[in-house]
Amino acid sequence: ANKRVLISRIFPEVGVERLQSAGFTVTAWDQDRPMTQDELIEQAKQHDALFCTLSDKIDAKFLGECSHLDIISQFAVGYDNIDIVEATRLGIPVGFTPDAMSNATADIAFGLMIATSRKMFFMHKQILSGSWTSFKPNANLGMELTGKTLGIYGLGRIGMEMAKRCKGAYNMKVIYHNRTRNEAAEKQLDAAYVAFAELLAQSDVLSIHCALTADTREIFNKAAFAQMKPTSIFINTSRGLVHNEPDLIEALNAGTIWGAGLDVTNPEPMQPDNPLLQMENVSVLPHIGSATMEARGKMAQMAAENIIEFYRSKHVPHIVNPEVLKNK
Ligand code: GLV
Ligand code: GLV
Repeated sequence: ANKRVLISRIFPEVGVERLQSAGFTVTAWDQDRPMTQDELIEQAKQHDALFCTLSDKIDAKFLGECSHLDIISQFAVGYDNIDIVEATRLGIPVGFTPDAMSNATADIAFGLMIATSRKMFFMHKQILSGSWTSFKPNANLGMELTGKTLGIYGLGRIGMEMAKRCKGAYNMKVIYHNRTRNEAAEKQLDAAYVAFAELLAQSDVLSIHCALTADTREIFNKAAFAQMKPTSIFINTSRGLVHNEPDLIEALNAGTIWGAGLDVTNPEPMQPDNPLLQMENVSVLPHIGSATMEARGKMAQMAAENIIEFYRSKHVPHIVNPEVLKNK
């Protein structure tokens, strides 16, 4: 007992409170910026467990210097900031917070789809800049979503929630592509599994919900966009590195695809002079998929619980690399 936990960012208070009331000694970084990796290493060296998130680089260098850590508890569903192979090799369990943000993130994907289809962000800017002069009978035309085909790349928990919203609201036909078929989802959503090329060719709205891995890195590139419909909308709420951004800009400029809604960009943060921000049929948000009081509160509790349970029972309720627990 009296283990020391380093908390790398300002997280919802409930996570810190949970750890403190379970008897942990907690150090919480209180600045608005992430620690540099050197700061993180120096701090982590003086702690037994790390509570961290996407903005912390937990690579081989960090892990080499901090191989003493008992557990790394990630506040996120994605963990591409962590070298899982190396953590596993060192026997360090990595916790994460799946499903806590599925509704929140699907809401952002759904919202970006609607906003893009009706050019809402661009129209809002017309008001701000004083360019709105009168109702125009034949301008500012968007497109409707009812009855269209939704393609999901990565039909997991978040993709399911997006598909449910699109089916319920717009009676959209759902097709998807995954590494492995999701037959439960096929039944529940009447979704059809298709090859990647068919997903690209048939989707009116293509929504990305995969994890970032070596296989998915920049998979949405020039060659992929070229296979999509000129009337299609690309929605990315997963990781920006899943799309190639210059290729996306080119596809939009050339009319290869019609629009894009992004909650994640490549790189992040997106700079204010990015040409995507000037386009009518593009909506961009600053990675707020999980940013609801409900989701962030639940994530903080889950990430705390992963640490507490590990020290209590050597069991981590939500773990990325369960194989390391066999030898604990
Ligand atoms: C947020 O991007 C997450 O992975 O939870
Ligand atoms: C996230 O929870 C996913 O698996 O889609």
